[in-house]
Amino acid sequence: MRTERGHSPIISVVAAAALMAGFFSMTVAGHAKETEAAFKARCGECHGPRDIQYWGRQRADPAARQAWLDQFLRKHYPPSEIERGLIITYIQSTIAGAAPK
Ligand code: HEC
Repeated sequence: MRTERGHSPIISVVAAAALMAGFFSMTVAGHAKETEAAFKARCGECHGPRDIQYWGRQRADPAARQAWLDQFLRKHYPPSEIERGLIITYIQSTIAGAAPK
């Protein structure tokens, strides 16, 4: 007669792997959501995806854009320092992920 005990080690390894995979994808998605939420809360009232793409065309070099945004957002409806980082990450990753036109 078979016992349940024979199965459990494999099942728990699979379960652990699934849990870990879920955990990592949630962390990545959670971060993306956080940056997007910060942008929407602070900038979304006045700026949308088109503006972001426009800023990308204005400053094509990511490093130069990073420096520009970092300075600019200290005086333009300044978000907190933490939010500024999140917002710039969101803008940069949105531009980087956009198909070149
Ligand atoms: C109350 C409305 C409002 C809010 C909130 C706002 N902006 Fe703006 N922003 C403007 C206007 C108006 C301009 C100037 C006209 C334009 O370029 O569209 C502008 C311009 C800009 C520019 C272009 C500057 C340039 O020199 O070309 C950037 C980049 C920008 N905003 C980013 C942001 C970010 C990021 C946030 C959130 C932290 C934000 N803005 C919040 C209204 C706003």
